[in-house]
Amino acid sequence: MRKCFGERTAVAGIDLVVPRGRCFGLLGPNGAGKTTTLRMIYGATVPSGGWLEVFGMDIRKHRRHVRARLGVTLQDNVLIEALSAVDNLRVFGRYHLIREPDLSERVEELIGFLQLGSHRDVAVGNLSGGFQRRLAIALSLMNRPELLILDEPTTGLDPAVRLALWSKIRELRAGGTTVLITTHYMDEAERLCDEVAILSEGRMIAQGAPSELIETTLARETVEFDCSTEEEAQLLEGFTLAAYRLRAGGRLILHLEDAGALVAHIRNRDRGHHRLCVVRPTNLEDVFLRLTGASLEGDL
Ligand SMILES: Nc1ncnc2c1ncn2[C@@H]1O[C@H](COP(=O)(O)OP(=O)(O)O)[C@@H](O)[C@H]1O
Ligand SMILES: [Mg+2]
Repeated sequence: MRKCFGERTAVAGIDLVVPRGRCFGLLGPNGAGKTTTLRMIYGATVPSGGWLEVFGMDIRKHRRHVRARLGVTLQDNVLIEALSAVDNLRVFGRYHLIREPDLSERVEELIGFLQLGSHRDVAVGNLSGGFQRRLAIALSLMNRPELLILDEPTTGLDPAVRLALWSKIRELRAGGTTVLITTHYMDEAERLCDEVAILSEGRMIAQGAPSELIETTLARETVEFDCSTEEEAQLLEGFTLAAYRLRAGGRLILHLEDAGALVAHIRNRDRGHHRLCVVRPTNLEDVFLRLTGASLEGDL
């Protein structure tokens, strides 16, 4: 698919298949084209070129059919602030032409599923960000979608709420729902997604299972430590480093197969000065920074 807005190209060319029943992540820096890609998939904007099928149908010809089978949570919550959580759900249910007694049943089911019970009658404008987000997701589940599209569902949420949402997303996926999600949190993508695609400037630059991408992009282990540019040469002298390095201000991040050897080397060169070296497995965030060519040199 491609999408241009006048002169501006938002999606230069994205080619992907999201298998049914999987959780698929679209990753990429701000402006990479994630939201635009989702908008084309749920029929909010028409591709400028290419070919797109949802549930095996052309969304332009079968818009209502397709929309009835998918649920969307946008980057910004679309809630009626003056109404309670329950009433928001009821309004949305009627939009989907769900009638009583199914409507009440469905509302209670979702209140229970997203643990909104304690705040069910509070006007949405008075709910915390976490509750609003949960309600927004509940709304997108009103029609029991086969495909759930979540645009940055956990941005700005506290860690406990993120954890709770992850478990709900996993439950949905386990129940057979296909989940298409965008996120800036690589730990989230690594935990939730069966497969991810990394976008940059409207193009896909990598695709695969998180573990597969880590394995094929970078060495297995990562060492992080503080060291100035001047210290670096002295510290690493004599160590053959066929590893990718990233400098973020005063911090050096190195990916290599044998972290232990490097740490021993640094200890040796440091002569008594105890520098804290963090050794950890290489993760999706490292891959993301490597592939999107993020430059962290200098001041941030
Ligand atoms: N309606 C629009 N009109 C003009 N430019 C747009 C529009 N929507 C998105 N863009 C541009 O397309 C690019 C991709 O945007 P978007 O898909 O929102 O990226 P992301 O969600 O990855 O941050 C950006 O440069 C953005 O400014
Ligand atoms: Mg976006």
